[in-house]
Amino acid sequence: MSLRNRLLVSILATLLLSLVAGGAFTYWHAVAKIETEMQAAIAVGSRIAHNAVDDWEEATDPARRLALLVADFEGDRHLRAMLVADGKVLRSSQVARAETPAPAWLVSLLAAPPKEVAVDLPPVFDRFGTVILQTDPRNEVAEVWSDVWLTLSVLTIFCALVLAFIYWTLATTIRPLQNLTTAFARVGDGDYRERLNERGPLELVRLSQSFNQMVARLARSEAQNKRLQQQLTSVQDEERADLARDLHDEIGPLLFAADVDAVAIEQLAKAGEYEDIPHRVGIIREAIGRMQRHVRDILGRLRSAMLLDVGLAHAIDNLVAFWRAHRPKLIVRVDVPEESFGELIDGTIYRIVQESLSNAVRHGAPTTISIEVRANADRSIDICVTDDGCGLKAGTAPGGFGIVGMQERVATLGGRLEVANRTDGPGVVVTARLPARATTAPARSYESHEATLQ
Ligand SMILES: Nc1ncnc2c1ncn2[C@@H]1O[C@H](COP(=O)(O)OP(=O)(O)OP(=O)(O)O)[C@@H](O)[C@H]1O
Ligand SMILES: [Mg+2]
Repeated sequence: MSLRNRLLVSILATLLLSLVAGGAFTYWHAVAKIETEMQAAIAVGSRIAHNAVDDWEEATDPARRLALLVADFEGDRHLRAMLVADGKVLRSSQVARAETPAPAWLVSLLAAPPKEVAVDLPPVFDRFGTVILQTDPRNEVAEVWSDVWLTLSVLTIFCALVLAFIYWTLATTIRPLQNLTTAFARVGDGDYRERLNERGPLELVRLSQSFNQMVARLARSEAQNKRLQQQLTSVQDEERADLARDLHDEIGPLLFAADVDAVAIEQLAKAGEYEDIPHRVGIIREAIGRMQRHVRDILGRLRSAMLLDVGLAHAIDNLVAFWRAHRPKLIVRVDVPEESFGELIDGTIYRIVQESLSNAVRHGAPTTISIEVRANADRSIDICVTDDGCGLKAGTAPGGFGIVGMQERVATLGGRLEVANRTDGPGVVVTARLPARATTAPARSYESHEATLQ
């Protein structure tokens, strides 16, 4: 059931319940009132009858007196007077007729059966009959009936107005919720242009504001993801081209040289000049050794996950060796413990060092870079990469994703990362703190592994 119908049904149920409770109370009250009125009518009627005949000693015509007594009750609202003799009604007064008579079922529901009381008259009247007073509750019930009608009409108008007002309020309040549902469906389909009107009740304004903020953030993340994806693809392409160049430039000549030497050995063997062969074999072995080293370097770059096999310190050494090959004059100081902090943390540290190193070389033109990873006694880890390059340019909007990526990785582990200019000279310092490690391999040692590459 929709929210609107549910609210309407519960309000209707509440109104009906109030109506039933009010009806029960009215019934109880009406029954008591009619009973009291009937008793009062009999008491008053009896007194009137007695008063009417209290001068009986002077009565010259008792029969006429009795007829006048009965006539006195003509048009009474609650009592009928009857003159009865030998079981026959000789005279009877008429009860006044109600303007709006109550239905018979209501009379039998509310009123007790009519009561009859014989008026105690002086003995002089005995032989002319007995005067009996009989209650008639119909007028009293008619009064209750018209009261109930009035109350019911007012209540019905009130309920109808309340329901109409609530229906209208709900309709205007729920419409934005329907818009919200549609908007959510659109966002679910990947349409991040959807925005909600920030109007209406305060709660809905807040909801719409939060929705709009969420969609704006999603749109930004989506755009960032796309750019990252494109960048990743171009980085991968660059990496592949780089590898192809390396294979071509480094391995190609060595293979060629080894082939030339192998041909030479064959010719020497045919010519019987065996003394030159060991020298040629030595050259081939040297070429194979160099090829092995190159292949290992390439593997290291292809599979950074290899760091899990070779260890964090060694993986960072490989990284440094890569940059040393490209920037022979660069001095890189490495101070990384030999221990493993676990796959996830090792991976994060490696990525921070990789991006900081790459940023320093690409943007800062430094002469020295120092990389420091320190495991603290409280099991947190500090990472610090410092360069002495040109530093961050003030006012330049960051266009890349390297720093954002580092920050995201660190935030995932509950840590924080900062990239700032050094205070003790030119250059940039990247500092990150990873909180106490949840699961790590047992620390083998905190002994530092230091390397200076020139
Ligand atoms: N060590 C540094 N020295 C000088 N400038 C730096 C250094 N590190 C970062 N920057 C500046 O901060 C900017 C943002 O760096 P970030 O790594 O986020 O992006 P990027 O390196 O430009 O691109 P990407 O990393 O996505 O390839 C850089 O463009 C550069 O201007
Ligand atoms: Mg970068």
